[in-house]
Amino acid sequence: MENKLYLDIETNDSEIINRINKEILEREGSVNTIIISIPSHKHFNKKLLSLIEDDCVAVYFHSDILKEQLEQIIITFIENEKYNIAIDGPSGSGKSTIAKALASILSIDYLDTGAMYRAITYMLIKDKIDLHHEDSVCSYIADLSMLIKNQRIYLDGKDVQDHRRDQIVTKNVSLVSGYECVRSKLVEIQRRISKENSSILDGRDIGTVVLPKAKYKFYLNADVEIRARRRFEETKEDISYEEILKDIIKRDEHDKNREISPLRKAPGAVEIDSTSLSISEVADEILKSMRAADHYE
Ligand code: DC
Repeated sequence: MENKLYLDIETNDSEIINRINKEILEREGSVNTIIISIPSHKHFNKKLLSLIEDDCVAVYFHSDILKEQLEQIIITFIENEKYNIAIDGPSGSGKSTIAKALASILSIDYLDTGAMYRAITYMLIKDKIDLHHEDSVCSYIADLSMLIKNQRIYLDGKDVQDHRRDQIVTKNVSLVSGYECVRSKLVEIQRRISKENSSILDGRDIGTVVLPKAKYKFYLNADVEIRARRRFEETKEDISYEEILKDIIKRDEHDKNREISPLRKAPGAVEIDSTSLSISEVADEILKSMRAADHYE
């Protein structure tokens, strides 16, 4: 005989197991299927799923008899409101790495907006457009189509993803991203993409301009020497630490002082200094802060 227990879960991950145990124990002997519904915006989906996949939920159950008796656990995600996470900060503060990790933990989309500015800069350089001539840049990009698929950027159908960290692109991206026509084109695409699914966007103006109403906003920072060291360790190009440091200081200066959408901590954003934190420590801080915000909603 099939006997289903329906559970709507609205709690955090450590409490899930206790809640399931309690509900099953109360119905001892009468349950062989558990159906768990979780709001898709809660931040434990991935963890719960991995517990189920590893068969750990059953192992955690207080009674082995219950474990044997259970025939299946069905998990359904209640469709919930979409949400966005905005992460801003200077170059090398760890935004992209953290945003990617969080997107995977939370099973949401990730958009690296810096890569979009880099992609356009690469195309302009490749097609020998005078980057200092704003009108030429604007007329070149007016009809340029941008498609983002599987975290790769295509401009007019060309996959430009692998050129985003070219040194020549890095040197010129601040100049190009200062132009109004470039920003308005990319901001529109970013807003469109962020409406489609729950997503995490990282950049310089996400919390201030692109998504000022994002549910969660963060500002990541770190000492400039640490940021340069991180970039130096990841670069494949023949460039010294000192050159990278000089370049980051120059880009910080430009990004923070440009007229349009300068890099700023957005009102209401939580600031995290990642100087002495590991990636997982920063990710934990962010998740903790999101849960606290959910709690006080
Ligand atoms: O995050 P990144 O280093 O890949 O960004 C490259 C450049 O793009 C950075 O110098 C400033 C610019 N940028 C911007 O102006 N606005 C964004 N939302 C993202 C990046």
